[in-house]
Amino acid sequence: MPTTLLKSDLPGLNLVHRGKVRDVYALSDDELLIVASDRLSAFDVVLPDPIPGKGEILTQMSNFWFARTAHVVPNHLTGRAVEAVLPAGVDAALYARRSVISKRLKPVPFEAIARGFLIGSGWKDYQASGSLCGVALPRGLRQAERLPEPIFTPSTKAAVGGHDENVSFAVVANQVGAELAGQVRDATLAVYRFAAEFASSRGILIADTKLEFGTDADGRLYVMDEMLTPDSSRFWPADQYRIGTSPPSFDKQYVRDYLESLGWNKQPPGPSIPAAVIEATAAKYAEALFRLADIRLD
Ligand SMILES: Nc1ncnc2c1ncn2[C@@H]1O[C@H](COP(=O)(O)OP(=O)(O)O)[C@@H](O)[C@H]1O
Ligand SMILES: [Mg+2]
Repeated sequence: MPTTLLKSDLPGLNLVHRGKVRDVYALSDDELLIVASDRLSAFDVVLPDPIPGKGEILTQMSNFWFARTAHVVPNHLTGRAVEAVLPAGVDAALYARRSVISKRLKPVPFEAIARGFLIGSGWKDYQASGSLCGVALPRGLRQAERLPEPIFTPSTKAAVGGHDENVSFAVVANQVGAELAGQVRDATLAVYRFAAEFASSRGILIADTKLEFGTDADGRLYVMDEMLTPDSSRFWPADQYRIGTSPPSFDKQYVRDYLESLGWNKQPPGPSIPAAVIEATAAKYAEALFRLADIRLD
């Protein structure tokens, strides 16, 4: 059975950040314990109900991709076992599959997004301006259409309650330097190309994905946080893909559709979600893990 965890509780450990999904503890100056909870955020608001097992699925899926892309870009995982650092008296089974010990990095202050298809905020920006993050695109592209080539479309990391904003490569280069910005762009596109090809052999199109990067004390670049999960990516079943519509995806679509039906104003606190919607959402996450990584968590 998957475990359920809304909020981690690890007495004696130094909690440095409670994100929308992850609780982050500093083990030392060099290492973090990162726990993925079962919290679900929709429209940038964390909902009151957990999706049982979601944090385990996110962590196992990220670990799968980190391992497979290690030849493309180094990642933040140390490979150290989580059980060894849990305080005495804590139920190890609750944390084992949803936690990792990572290198403690200095975050690159932008989200690194690769897009292979025109959807979401990319589609919106293209409709308004004919370009995306400063990248000129051919005229006449339709919603969900495959781009001539995958493109790098960075965005700002919004503070709590805010929304990310697409920016051009020049804005990133200005802030972090052209060399680091170029490394982030190249690594993002390389990971996207690798994963898109892998996923297509599983009947899944990766429309877009968001990565986060950090640097160590020597300035070396690593990919961190999570990788190629339904929270950070749009996965489309290839057999249901149609240009001109927004294809169904393996993510929070059920929850989003339900919330839209309520007419909720998208301000906190979020409404609670019916059991059927929670179950359907959990099943979608599990299906994505199985279809992409062949992993079932029981
Ligand atoms: N290896 C790492 N070093 C430093 N910070 C990290 C590392 N991995 C992840 N993080 C940060 O930990 C936090 C994870 O919490 P999460 O719930 O994913 O955040 P958010 O609410 O910003 O999506 C993020 O702020 C992420 O940037
Ligand atoms: Mg995150």
